[in-house]
This record gives sequence, C-alpha cells and structure tokens, in this order.
Amino acid sequence: MIPTISGVFLTVSLMKISVVGGGYVGLVTAACFAELGHEVSIIDRGAAKVNAINAKKPPIYEEGLEELLQHHVGMRLRASTSYDSVPFSDLTFICVGTPPNPDGSADLSKMKAASRSIGSVLKNSSNYHVVVVKSTVPPGTTENIVVPTVLQKSGKSDDTIGFAMNPEFLREGRAIADFMHPDRIVIGSRNLRDGDRVAEAYKGISAPILSTGLPAAEMIKYASNAFLATKISFSNEMGNICKKLGIDVYEVMRGAGMDKRIGPYFLDAGAGFGGSCFPKDVHALIKLAETVGEDPILLRSVIDVNEKQPGRIVQLLKARIGDLKGKRIAVLGLAFKDNTDDIRESRSIPVIEELLKSGAVIAAYDPMANSSMQKIYPSLTYCSTAADALRGAEGCLVMTEWPEFKNIEKEFDLMANRLIIEGRRILSCKGAEGICW
Ligand code: UGA
Repeated sequence: MIPTISGVFLTVSLMKISVVGGGYVGLVTAACFAELGHEVSIIDRGAAKVNAINAKKPPIYEEGLEELLQHHVGMRLRASTSYDSVPFSDLTFICVGTPPNPDGSADLSKMKAASRSIGSVLKNSSNYHVVVVKSTVPPGTTENIVVPTVLQKSGKSDDTIGFAMNPEFLREGRAIADFMHPDRIVIGSRNLRDGDRVAEAYKGISAPILSTGLPAAEMIKYASNAFLATKISFSNEMGNICKKLGIDVYEVMRGAGMDKRIGPYFLDAGAGFGGSCFPKDVHALIKLAETVGEDPILLRSVIDVNEKQPGRIVQLLKARIGDLKGKRIAVLGLAFKDNTDDIRESRSIPVIEELLKSGAVIAAYDPMANSSMQKIYPSLTYCSTAADALRGAEGCLVMTEWPEFKNIEKEFDLMANRLIIEGRRILSCKGAEGICW
C-alpha cells in the first residue's frame, strides 16, 4: 500500500496515461492520476501553459494543485505540446473545452481536432489503447464523432482501440478533493473490456463505479448539472416568494432539505448560479432538447429565474437608497463563487452592468478575482481590502460566499450609510438584508 499526500492508499497496477487538454479539468485529472501512482503526460497546444506546468506552476488557481505539481512534475507527470506519449499510453483522456456556440449548443471543434490527432499518432501502434472522453459533450458525440474519427485517422479497428466516456463532477476550488473522494465514478463504454480498463486507472479510490453505455454517460453529466442548477433556481424562487411573505427561506429550505428525498445540499438561495458549467450546460441541454423536437419548459425556467435574480439585488438597493447616480456602492465578491479567481458567468457581472447603467460609482473587492474583473471593467475602483471598498460607500452588495466575509463587522461602520444587501448568505453581522430573505 502506498500512502499519498491526499490520504488515498494505493494498491495500484500502474498505467501510462495521456491527458489531452491542460485546462482546469485536464490538469486536475492529470495531477490526480499522477498522485494515484500512474505515469501521466499532459498534451496542450499552448506552449506557455506547458512551460508553466513543467516549471511546477499551475496556470490556474486550484486548491492543492500546486502541491501536486511540486510533488509529481519531473517524476511521473510532464506536459508537452506533442502527442508523442499517446502510442505508449494505455489510456488517453480527452479533456478539451466544449464552449457554447452563439446558439447555446456545444462547440465540438476541439473535440474533433483532438480525435484526429490521437487517431493519427495511433496509426503505427499495435498496443491496445482506450480513448476516453472526459469533456462534457452532448449524447452521441463519443459514438458518432470520436469513434469514427479516431478509427479513420488511425486506420485501425475497434479490436485494438477501445472507447469510453467518463464524465467529471469536479467543483472548481474543491476539484482535487472531489477527484479523490467522488460520490461515484461513471464509466460509459461499448463493451466490458474498455470500461474495465478505465476503471483500473481509478483503483485506490473508494467510490461506486456505474457502468453504462456511451450516450448514457454523456447524458448523466448534463442531467446532474441541470438538476443542481434546478435546485438553485427552485430555492431562489422560493426565496423570492418568502421575501414577500416575510419568511426566512433558509429556515424553509433547511426544513425541506431534511427530507431524504430532497436532501440538504444546493438549496442556498441568493444571486443565482454562475461559473463555466451550469449556465453553459443547461443552455446546451435546452438546445439538444429542441433538436429532438422537445420543448424543455423546466430548463428554460431554470435559466429565466437565474437571469432575473441579479437584477433583483439592484432593484432592492434602489428601493432602499433611491437614485444611484454618483453614489459610491461597494461590491464585495466578484468571483462566481468562493475559493476561485474565476469570474466566468459570475452574478456580479450583471450587477456591475446594472449599477453602471444607473450611474453608480463602484468600489469592488474580491480576495482573488480583482484582476480577472479588471480585464472586463478596467475603470472600476478595485480595492485591496473589504474595508477600503466600504469606506464612504452608501450601499454594499455582497455577491460571493467568501468565508472571509463572515467576519466583516466593524468595517461596515466605515460606510457613509450602513446599508448592506447580501446576494449570498455569508455575513454573521446583524442588520444586513438578503436579496430573497
Ligand atoms: C459545477 C458542479 O457542481 C460540478 O459537479 C461539475 O463537475 C462542474 O460544475 C462542471 O460541470 O465541471 P462549479 O461550476 O465549480 O461545479 O461550481 P458549484 O460549486 O457547483 O457552484 C456553481 C454556482 O452555483 C456558484 O455560482 C454558486 O455560488 C452557486 N450556488 C451553489 C448557489 O447559488 N446555491 C447553492 O446552494 C450552491
């Protein structure tokens, strides 16, 4: 048994693994497989990213990632711009981005390019190799795009090349813990041999493995994210109703969540969900439903509630202090959630947009995401502490659930007018009003 720095014990038969895509999912996946004892090569077209990884510097912030790179790069983890490692690997995971097209559908161009490159380098290999799709892709993508592309480019049959679909359920900021201690590992494959080969890579991790067909594995990812997004929009709608009735939605959802059939998680009402996954995946699922002639009423409403929620916090602010023109408003929290510098689809973006339209002067503070937001809104005042943002402000909006905001108390006295509205229930001080509580 080999102990690891993340506390997982290994009894593993080591494998050689290639990971295509050194983004957030690929890098975490690669680092965690190295941690499990495998020999891992990351392939990414970006030379700067490859150099950063090989210099043990994660190009993104993710808790615990730097420690894993420090430990494994140069030993059993490396990055390269070439696909040379693929023919010598047992498994190749495709972890490329599938960003939204303008119509909401998933852009699969990187998936196709990776499949072509993998197929080409497998031409001269005679080893049994399994190509595993980890990116979030619409059902049918692995079977109808990846399989034929790899087989055609390699000139091989599926006797020597296997295929699997193994979705990720990693939360940003907690991705390494989620990888090492998952609720389940879903492996979609066309036959037992391919699926079992993928399962081997996860030996050492204690979690149920669910074996499915390829399209079911692809759909499980969409269903999971859509359901979690639905829980949030449901809680927000309950919150909006409760606010009018003078009821605390957090008490309500705590009570509802004690029913095992509902569960206590992902019921926190607030400014809505952001991030690179929920909005993108729900939109892609809506598009997918439409292409098969279904009208996804519920999913549309999930998005609708989410898009209206940020506007409510600005409406509430206006209801409390009137015209915002020329008024200094502190915005605490810019990241789409705590423990990340990622601002993609952050609910603070539509809030900033509305505040600017109303002529407010914004003083913003985020423990990690100031510089990310500065790239989109260079003219806001970015502060290095919450106190600096609050000094002289006539209103404060709390947009991200950063634990450090819990302790803000006397800093609110620096405001010209102590008006605090929370878009996330995080403060422990008295006197703050919630967006929907
Ligand atoms: C999400 C899923 O949780 C992961 O399981 C999934 O693998 C990932 O997307 C993905 O598809 O790659 P992530 O986007 O990192 O992970 O963020 P979450 O922690 O799920 O939070 C998403 C948003 O929902 C945040 O803006 C958060 O503030 C909000 N949220 C979360 C609420 O408003 N209420 C809640 O109760 C929980």
